[in-house]
Amino acid sequence: SPRHFLSIADVSPGELVALITAAQRAKHAIKGGNSVPSNLLDSLSGKTVAIMFSKRSTRTRISTEGAVVYMGGHPMFLGKDDIQLGVNESLYDTSKVISSMTSCIVARVGPHKDIADLAKTSSVPVINALSDAFHPMQAIADMLTISEAHGSKNLAGLKVAWVGDANNVLYDLALACSKLGITVSAATPVGYDVDPSIWKLVQDSCRETGTSINTVHEPELAVKNADFIVTDTWVSMGQEEEKLKRLKDFAGFQITDELASRGGAKPNWKFMHCLPRKPEEVSDEVFYSPRSLVFNEAENRLYAAIAALEAFVVDEGSILV
Ligand code: CP
Ligand code: NVA
Repeated sequence: SPRHFLSIADVSPGELVALITAAQRAKHAIKGGNSVPSNLLDSLSGKTVAIMFSKRSTRTRISTEGAVVYMGGHPMFLGKDDIQLGVNESLYDTSKVISSMTSCIVARVGPHKDIADLAKTSSVPVINALSDAFHPMQAIADMLTISEAHGSKNLAGLKVAWVGDANNVLYDLALACSKLGITVSAATPVGYDVDPSIWKLVQDSCRETGTSINTVHEPELAVKNADFIVTDTWVSMGQEEEKLKRLKDFAGFQITDELASRGGAKPNWKFMHCLPRKPEEVSDEVFYSPRSLVFNEAENRLYAAIAALEAFVVDEGSILV
């Protein structure tokens, strides 16, 4: 059965470095001459990649479709109203059928179990384009962004502060940081604690690499000595009905210059957000400042998608260990 990419937990620290390096290679090649590295030119020629999304997307859809085109393949976008899934056909049957005709399934789903089940049945690699638990291609783009801002591939000893919800983006970001030796301190409001079973994965990974991680409820404690302050929406897709309650419960969690200096972030701290962004999460003053890496981070999604396709589809794992 093929190797799937459902979470950063699926790759070793060395494999994560290989993915980031592949993304960097693709970026240099494209920025330098409008084409991918020579080994990837036409690497998906004559092949179809199914992009099956049950939720909205700007970055993930564009980066994945773009990556497939750069590599000479045909991206086939299958939105929730385009196919029979969920209305007339089961996930099992859908997975059997789609995987019999394509080279890869890139899927955005609600419950993580859906993508895990899809992967169990699929005869081609399945790449997670976001589930309620993980967002691995975002984490690759984020690590590339951190490494560019830091000016070195060795990220060990840096500190990432997360101030916001305990969600899919945090979980894969924390897993990626744990594998690269980046300390994480995550502040979430009372009542919005990390999922214990997912956090155990993160803690186990930290133990393996000797990386430290902690969770708190006070944003100013998390940002102490932080090199990067990161957040995401307070209301993820599917949580829209909780919006009013969440806005109240997250009071005091907006990232501002004042919070960073009150908490003692490093003077040169940088801001990151996977986007889309709402103003309550971060002040305009920070979001549109030179500290903000958000648009590099979004652009890096293209190179992360190319790296994931290279690793899991083209080379069937050969850039992986
Ligand atoms: N960051 C991210 O995944 O954005 P989209 O939902 O627009 O794909
Ligand atoms: N946590 C957000 C990320 C969107 C890219 C969500 O799941 O909606």
